[in-house]
Amino acid sequence: MKKIIAVHSYKGGTGKTSLSTNLAATFVRNGKKVCLMDLDFRAPSLHAIFKKQNLDYWLNDYLNGVCEINKVLIDATNNNGNGGKLLVGLANPSTEAIRDMTAKDRKWEMKALGRLLALRSALLNDGNFDYIIFDTSPGLQYSSINAIVAADIVLVVTSLDASDINGSQRMTSELYDLFEKKTGILINKVIVDYLKSKEEQKKFTKKMKDIHNLPILATIPCFCEVLRAAGNFIFTEERPDHPFTETLEDLAEKVEKF
Ligand SMILES: Nc1ncnc2c1ncn2[C@@H]1O[C@H](COP(=O)(O)OP(=O)(O)OP(=O)(O)O)[C@@H](O)[C@H]1O
Ligand SMILES: [Mg+2]
Repeated sequence: MKKIIAVHSYKGGTGKTSLSTNLAATFVRNGKKVCLMDLDFRAPSLHAIFKKQNLDYWLNDYLNGVCEINKVLIDATNNNGNGGKLLVGLANPSTEAIRDMTAKDRKWEMKALGRLLALRSALLNDGNFDYIIFDTSPGLQYSSINAIVAADIVLVVTSLDASDINGSQRMTSELYDLFEKKTGILINKVIVDYLKSKEEQKKFTKKMKDIHNLPILATIPCFCEVLRAAGNFIFTEERPDHPFTETLEDLAEKVEKF
C-alpha cells in the first residue's frame, strides 16, 4: 500500500533524521520507490547527508508556490539493481531561508498544507512512489503539524528521557489522536543492557507499550558506530551486516504491514 509517513518527536535530537533516512534507504533496498523530504526548515539536515549545497530549487520553493515538485526532487538512488528508487526533497539550509521560513504566518501555513496534501496525487498516484517520508522539526511547529495532517502514519521517535516520554504521551492525546493518525512509537538510543536477551527485550517492549499505549514498532539500541557516522553517510548502506541495519529492516517490514 502506498503511504505517507511523518517521522516526528517531542524533543530534538531523538533520531528522526537518522531513522527517516535509514528507513527510506531500507525500503529502497527492498525495491520500493521512495521520496524522502526534509520538512525541518528550522534546522535542515538532509542536504548534508546527500551532499548538496547549491540547488536551483528547494522544498521551500515548492511550498512557496514558486515551482512544481519535480524541479525539487533529486535522484539519490544508489544502484542496487533492485528496482528501488530514492528521490530526496531538500530544505534550504541558508540563514536567509531559515529566517524566511520562521517568519511565515498561519495563512501561509494553510497554503503550505494544501501543497503538501497535493503531493499524494502527484507522487503516490501519478508518480508511482510507494512511500513519501517526511523528516520533521521536533515539537509543535506548524510545519510539523502540517506534515502530520498530510501523513497516513506517524512514527514518533522517543528516547528514554523522562521529559521525552512525557512529551510524547501528551502529543499522542493532543495531536496524533486528534487527527486520528495511525501512530507507532520508535524507542531510540536504548541502553543495550535493557535488551540483553530476547526475554528482556520482550519485557522492555511490553513496559513501553503500557507507558505509551501505542504499538512499539522498534526498540533501537544506542550504537557508538551510528553516532560516529555523524550524519555523513547512510549507515544501513555502508554497514549492511550491523545490528542497526537489522533493526531497520524489521521496522520497514512492520511499517509495511501497519
Ligand atoms: N540508535 C542510535 N545510536 C547512537 N546514536 C544515534 C542513534 N540514533 C541517532 N543517533 C545520533 O543522535 C544524533 C541526533 O540524531 P538525529 O539528527 O537523527 O536526530 P533528530 O531527531 O533528527 O534531531 P533534530 O531534532 O535536531 O532534527 C546524531 O548524532 C545521530 O547520529
Ligand atoms: Mg533532524
